[in-house]
Amino acid sequence: MGKLIDEKIQGTSLLTPKKTDNGRKLYIESYGCQMNFSDSEIVASILSAEGFNTTNKLEEADLVLVNTCSIREKAEQTVRKRLEKFNAIKESRPHVKVGVLGCMAERLKSAFLEEEKIVDMVVGPDAYKDLPNLIQEVDEGRNAVNVILSKEETYADIAPVRLNSNGVTAFVSITRGCDNMCTFCVVPFTRGRERSRDPHSIVKEVNELWNKGFKEITLLGQNVDSYLWYGGGLKKDFDKASDLQKNTSINFAKLLHLVAEAQPRMRIRFSTSNPQDMTLDVIEAMAAHDNICKYIHLPVQSGSNKILKAMNRQHTREEYMALIDNIRNIIPDCGISQDMIAGFPTETEEDHQDTLSLMDYVKYDFGFMFAYSERPGTLAERKLEDDIPLDVKKRRLNEIITLQQRHALYRTQQHLGKIEEVLIEGDSKKSDQEWMGRNTQNTVVVFPKEQYKVGDFVLVKIKDCTSATLIGEAVGYTT
Ligand code: SAH
Ligand code: F3S
Repeated sequence: MGKLIDEKIQGTSLLTPKKTDNGRKLYIESYGCQMNFSDSEIVASILSAEGFNTTNKLEEADLVLVNTCSIREKAEQTVRKRLEKFNAIKESRPHVKVGVLGCMAERLKSAFLEEEKIVDMVVGPDAYKDLPNLIQEVDEGRNAVNVILSKEETYADIAPVRLNSNGVTAFVSITRGCDNMCTFCVVPFTRGRERSRDPHSIVKEVNELWNKGFKEITLLGQNVDSYLWYGGGLKKDFDKASDLQKNTSINFAKLLHLVAEAQPRMRIRFSTSNPQDMTLDVIEAMAAHDNICKYIHLPVQSGSNKILKAMNRQHTREEYMALIDNIRNIIPDCGISQDMIAGFPTETEEDHQDTLSLMDYVKYDFGFMFAYSERPGTLAERKLEDDIPLDVKKRRLNEIITLQQRHALYRTQQHLGKIEEVLIEGDSKKSDQEWMGRNTQNTVVVFPKEQYKVGDFVLVKIKDCTSATLIGEAVGYTT
């Protein structure tokens, strides 16, 4: 899991010129969502400006940082087990410092220091610019904690150091935090209120990535459709903005146009969309630009109106289906994926059947499916009993997964015989004789390497498929 800086594409902070090498090595490990991986690149940039060099070898690290996830209990257990492993490192190299970043840091705050003796430093997602000071405190023998959430911080002025990069695809973060308050979700508590990043800095980062040879970017946010720039500030304070600010504000659809036009040959993806915030103008912006990929990750969590309400998802099953119809009308070949939660409190067999029938309606290309995990501090934890037995949760989850696999195969079969554009990302998992890339719908395509290379856009004839992969043969370059 160690991440190595590729020297060729190493960036530095726009704020501070890189100090000379301080002789210390940073090892950073990331868990959880894409946003965490993107944040680790910001952290590496901030510490590179302090003279740290990044290593992917834990045994040579002087500073070990773990960027953590709280979304489900299992995610936290994984991190705790990993921290146990670090004890051995400290035994052989006592000067090594261990810092915890991300959502677990924010959730547990200084209690983390008590619970896990190995930890020297606890840093929440909005406090990474304070890392140089916090490291100094730790060096002076004190534990250090900063978990202050911010109304402003978007790290717009930091040029991320691309970690473990294939040199072809990159994340660009556009919003931080989330205001949606889904009752099961810990994110609004660990990542704070929603704020958007200055569109100029987004376009600048995309331009720089293109100039460095990147071919595809993914605009990242917990809820990209609610992106709103009116000169800075929280999304929830938009009402208080001046008329001028309101009239010149930039929403997500406008941002998509801006980015797509700035780099017409850069492939653009985005994640995650929220059904309640996705508007027609976003779908139309996708349709208007060939370089915006025809793929939407559109979590629904449940197909039951009763459960959607209890989850505080601000839409009904029928509204979600109407959104799907709109997407399919405007972009007939759009790939669509889901997140589902099985066994939310009070879920009956009938509610579960509603989820299965919604899946039959949409026939998602793929999905990410979970058993409900109660999270401390959320509304669901405070107001609802976690009343679905584990074996029932697991059985329902398995039924959802089995159905999804059937739908995924149905979707991959629709590509058979077609010629599709694929961006080559690297070797296929199974064979170093074959390339792996993705088509516009985000489906993985593998094919023999021939003369092609990483970063090429290639036309591939699809000849075979599994439920997860298209298998083909290149027929030429995209013109
Ligand atoms: N909008 C976010 C969602 C983050 S959480 C995004 O950018 O992806 C990712 C997924 O984890 C959610 O869509 C949900 O399906 C799942 N999830 C969140 N909280 C959960 C919980 N308490 N138990 C089980 N699954 C959960
Ligand atoms: Fe979580 Fe719902 Fe936001 S799932 S990240 S509170 S959109």
